[in-house]
Amino acid sequence: MDPYRLPRTVVPSRYDIRLEPDLTTLTFRGEESIAIQVAEPVSEIVLNAVELIVDEAVVVDAQGHEQRAAVTLDEAAERCRLAVAAPLATGTGRLRLAFRGTLNDKLRGFYRSVYKDPSGVPRTMAATQFEATDARRAFPCWDEPAFKAVFSVTLAIDPTLTAVSNTRVASETREGARKIVRFADSIVMSTYLVAIVVGELEQTEPTLVGPTPVRIWCVPGKRRLAAFGQEIAVASLKFFEDYYGLPYPGDKLDLLAIPDFAAGAMENLGAITFRETALLVDERAASHAELQRVADVVAHENAHMWFGDLVTMSWWNGIWLNEAFATFMEMLAVDAWKPEWQRWVAFGVSRAAALSVDGLHSTRPIEFPVRAPREADAMFDVLTYEKGASVLRMLEQYLGPDVFRVGVHEYLVRHRFANADTGDLWAALGRASQQPIPAVMDGWIFAPGYPLVSVGVEGRELVLRQQRFTYLAEPLRWFGAASATPAPPARWQVPVQVRIAAGGREMVERVLLTEPETRRSLPAGFESLVANEGGHGFYRVRYDDGLLERLLGRLPGLGAIERFNLVNDAWAVSVAGLMPQARYLELTARFRDERDKNVWSILIASFHTLNRLVTPADRPKLEALVRDRAAGALAALGWTPRAGEDELTRQLRGDLIRALGTLGNDQAVQARAAELYAGHERGAAPVDPNVLPALIAVLGHAGDEGRYHEFFERFRTAKTPQEEQRYLYALTAFPQPALVEQTLARTINGDIRTQDAPFVVRSLLMAVHSREIAWEFVKKQWDTMDRLYPKHGLRRMAEGVIGLATPSLEADVHRFFHERRIDLGGKTLEQYLEQLRVAVALREREGAALSAYLARY
Ligand code: BES
Ligand code: ZN
Repeated sequence: MDPYRLPRTVVPSRYDIRLEPDLTTLTFRGEESIAIQVAEPVSEIVLNAVELIVDEAVVVDAQGHEQRAAVTLDEAAERCRLAVAAPLATGTGRLRLAFRGTLNDKLRGFYRSVYKDPSGVPRTMAATQFEATDARRAFPCWDEPAFKAVFSVTLAIDPTLTAVSNTRVASETREGARKIVRFADSIVMSTYLVAIVVGELEQTEPTLVGPTPVRIWCVPGKRRLAAFGQEIAVASLKFFEDYYGLPYPGDKLDLLAIPDFAAGAMENLGAITFRETALLVDERAASHAELQRVADVVAHENAHMWFGDLVTMSWWNGIWLNEAFATFMEMLAVDAWKPEWQRWVAFGVSRAAALSVDGLHSTRPIEFPVRAPREADAMFDVLTYEKGASVLRMLEQYLGPDVFRVGVHEYLVRHRFANADTGDLWAALGRASQQPIPAVMDGWIFAPGYPLVSVGVEGRELVLRQQRFTYLAEPLRWFGAASATPAPPARWQVPVQVRIAAGGREMVERVLLTEPETRRSLPAGFESLVANEGGHGFYRVRYDDGLLERLLGRLPGLGAIERFNLVNDAWAVSVAGLMPQARYLELTARFRDERDKNVWSILIASFHTLNRLVTPADRPKLEALVRDRAAGALAALGWTPRAGEDELTRQLRGDLIRALGTLGNDQAVQARAAELYAGHERGAAPVDPNVLPALIAVLGHAGDEGRYHEFFERFRTAKTPQEEQRYLYALTAFPQPALVEQTLARTINGDIRTQDAPFVVRSLLMAVHSREIAWEFVKKQWDTMDRLYPKHGLRRMAEGVIGLATPSLEADVHRFFHERRIDLGGKTLEQYLEQLRVAVALREREGAALSAYLARY
């Protein structure tokens, strides 16, 4: 028997759950009555429970025979076994349980969140976070996505508090000193989507979308930050009803900001929970990046109401069906809402992140076997989300958006209120498109990696070749390397679109590259070409020297995504050793006139990576190179917005100031930043919200102890979640060792919330000035952090080891993880170590050449 899958002899169809949380004792009591179907005359029922005490269990079978069950809890297996003396009659029965638990502080299951009210007094609320497998911490249940059931929730709470769950309130009554809130029945859904929030909550005026009221909830005093989130919630709800061609499946839609929240947000049907930064924002004081974050997360979770909630993957190996789709739909919805944001261009940054990890030997296929809960947790990564969304975009563009949408509609209709897997989606898209979807798609979903498409001109012919792209020639050797990675397929079916300029005209050629090599004759008067035109393909392009040079000569003729891909692919190809680094750095000099923020962000990211691996002596030269590349763009934009300037340009200004003031160590920029910030703080000259966050970062980088304490106070007393984040991350920028130590201490002493602390440590590990101190601290405090942080914390934090890009630090990282036998779930650690190896290998291979190149600056 599989220790991770429950037997199907007895299955639930309906839960009537009553919970009574006590925010003073931080405990809860519960009762539930579960309607069950008994398929075989068993005398044992097995379901999930963990960190609960079950006081009583009674089973009534289909013949009305009632018996008390003996309860055994297996904490390691997270299971509860109920044994009855006489075998149960088959058919419909009922199970009644009484249980107890604590409101924990690990931000999972049924947990507590603590915050200060407007007068500074600490307050407690209770919330739930169940995905992937933590519903079992709040009530005993069949905690697997395929055991869908109806949920009827009743809460017995302090009458001064408010309760929110998945559905509308059906009744509110009194029972002694308690208020009894009974919620309407849910649709048939999975356990991981149940939500309960109890506290002193404020709500906005609902907006109706058809019959659905949409509201934002938050702790007292923050309602003024809810308008923007509500607007995108309403807009995306309308968008999805239209796109999916199906009504919203719930009876109301609440979006709740929770002060302590492990993930970014969670798609509980009708009661979506968020960390505050992802929902609450002051539209007039926020940067484009901060606003886009809110729009993205809200649209993403709304997309899940259909993809995930109405139709759910059968098991966690298919989590990409949830997350990749929600990410893809998030782009469509935000793009429709604010086309001027050019959301699909910005998606290039996400695609690039996926291409990075998927270029490792230690990558995994998007769909991957999952057994234990920790393996399910490790599936929520860049491959599931960003690679998944990228290949969906590629498929949508290949089939055509209308055909794709018809297939999606059909899939949802066929599997609503039930479960599905990848094959079901392929079948629906196949019916809609009359195309062999598995033949095209299986290589992208079930195989690791992706192709490097080499593009060359030989005589009058265009030659396209594909091979797998990897950064390193060999898989990494490390202590955890279990078995050899399965051999990747020799090739993919790659939908390649080539835009060819010839005789003063442009034409697009569509090629489905199925073989290792394909040839096409070129038109007369051939001038140049762009492979991956439009930039939707999930592959890299390597042009031959002649083609690359021609492209660089006509950059304004390329779309922003195409320029983005040109830089990103050239960088990756050079990191992989297929192009000299000096050539890449020369290429960056051709982008001084670039005005797209995404292209700049990929350029700046590559400089950050180099900064981590050059020698200290070369660092000032790299700073000079950064100034050489970026200063002209900032000078051209100026420091203050021009009338009629778009939001993206304003954001670019902020990004350039930040890059020049930190990585470029530009003293003039630092001085100007200090001046502008002072003027803003005095109220004399308000600064554009896209520039202000950059000023704060620059002042941290160039700041002293006085500034550090000033920023810490601003962090503590911030008026918006965004302001809080700006000052928090600015604390990580101060280079003084004593201040680095102080910030580190704050990641475990309660000054910084545990939802944020792992990310703070990660950025300290990634930065040259702090990485060694941070690494010593992490080694020493690993166990403490493991105890304090939410479960994803250490995994997110440990990603910072990628920044420890010196040979001796790399050796020490291996030693530590080896000695401590640390497993971060799935292939996570192996991927981090391989990324670290890629960086150190680049340093070993190109160090001297880089030094020689930088000598001119
Ligand atoms: N379903 C996830 C939340 C989640 C993540 C639960 C990991 C359990 C483990 C949710 O839909 C989600 O994807 N949230 C993202 C934000 C989103 C905009 C990419 C997150 O939390 O980062
Ligand atoms: Zn999601």
